[in-house]
Amino acid sequence: MAESTKNATLQLDGKSFDLPIFSPTVGPDVIDIRKLYANAGVFTYDPGFTSTAACDSTITFIDGDKGELLHRGYPIDQLAEKSHYLEVCYLLLYGDLPSAQALEDFENRVTNHTMLHEQMQYFFRGFRRDAHPMAIMVGVVGAMSAFYHDSTDITDAWQREVASIRLIAKMPTIAAWAYKYHTGQPFVYPRNDLDYASNFLRMCFSVPAEEYEVNPILSRAMDRIFTLHADHEQNASTSTVRLASSSGANPFACIAAGVACLWGPAHGGANQACLEMLREIGTPDRIPEFIDRAKDKNDPFRLMGFGHRVYKNFDPRAKVMKQSADEVLDLLGIENNPTLQVAKELEVAALADPYFTEKKLFPNVDFYSGIILEAMGFPTSMFTPIFALSRTVGWVSQWKEMIGDPQNKIGRPRQLYLGSTARDYTDIEKR
Ligand code: SDX
Repeated sequence: MAESTKNATLQLDGKSFDLPIFSPTVGPDVIDIRKLYANAGVFTYDPGFTSTAACDSTITFIDGDKGELLHRGYPIDQLAEKSHYLEVCYLLLYGDLPSAQALEDFENRVTNHTMLHEQMQYFFRGFRRDAHPMAIMVGVVGAMSAFYHDSTDITDAWQREVASIRLIAKMPTIAAWAYKYHTGQPFVYPRNDLDYASNFLRMCFSVPAEEYEVNPILSRAMDRIFTLHADHEQNASTSTVRLASSSGANPFACIAAGVACLWGPAHGGANQACLEMLREIGTPDRIPEFIDRAKDKNDPFRLMGFGHRVYKNFDPRAKVMKQSADEVLDLLGIENNPTLQVAKELEVAALADPYFTEKKLFPNVDFYSGIILEAMGFPTSMFTPIFALSRTVGWVSQWKEMIGDPQNKIGRPRQLYLGSTARDYTDIEKR
């Protein structure tokens, strides 16, 4: 924990209360209000946590004004260009870039945990074929606690480590099998001779009837998408995982809670919603109509893939994703993709409109990702499962950090109560 170097003073009802201030490595100072209620008898009020630091962390830093994202200090654009997903996983989990030997050992451990307990297939088969893959992922990830009992004791550091590796290793298999089940095709087992991204593509797109060669362009693009989604500070799904973990729930149940939260269209579900929106717009000439709808307070429609709680500048991930979209479509020989054309012209039109610039609404990570995923052959229903697969390392890293923190206690927010004061029960005859 940082040392307090100065205080804030709260004046309340003629009394003064000193509140310690902690300064971060980088970013805003925080005011420590942990003793506020005990000393001053008041709560702070912050629905949506717009001004609240819920924890301290050393994993990821975001500067929303600059549009900067650092993982253990390394900028996301450098990691996306020079690193690869499993190396970023190691960085997030253990705090620094690995040596060649450490990386090889880590990748071998992950590779050797990619298979699922055979009995879990029956879990998949209990769903309707038209179940959304995210519904399947929420169920199956939670059910892992019924299959991997030997890594559910969070007080045992070794079990925490095994659970972390199992989750990172098995999520691609779970996501791929959710997709295969949805299509009615047979499950494809992981292969130990393939890298993480290639394994996932093969489990999704290969069929027993023919050989499947992984396209290196697609596996590089897939790996980059995994990296761009790996972690993102205390976003809604990560905060869900932390809150669930604070009760001592097992790691699989907590990650399942994160998957459930991510599914929402305001969060990870935005990549599916964004592509559906771009398809609905259809042609550039309809862009003004949708811009007007997004600006209309009486219309619940929002530009999906636009805006962010923290970024008040370009989401750095969106910049990399946009470059990747151009590269992948070009390398795949997909020219004049109408959806990409609409996305690019929509971005220009929105960023030329004072409504968006004054509210500092820029494209976020979800704006271009769906275009790449669609070009790779994924249906929109698989976009959020891929986000969940990628973010598992972020959830697990933040979970490990929190569980290992001696300050860790159950999260229990209070409220501003506006309901009825105490009143006596009225018998039904008298109502
Ligand atoms: C992710 O937190 C993270 O880090 C998330 C994430 C991660 O990696 O974990 O980055 C992943 O979830 C990215 C965001 C994906 N969601 C979307 O693209 C959905 C569309 N975006 C909006 O729903 C919204 O921008 C949010 C939810 C992302 C952020 O909402 P906030 O911070 O609560 O902002 P707000 O709703 O208070 O909006 C501020 C103003 C409002 O207008 P006023 O009431 O001030 O007049 O901006 C408007 C909003 O109406 N606004 C939009 C808009 N987003 C905000 N108007 C039109 N279109 C939009 N997309």
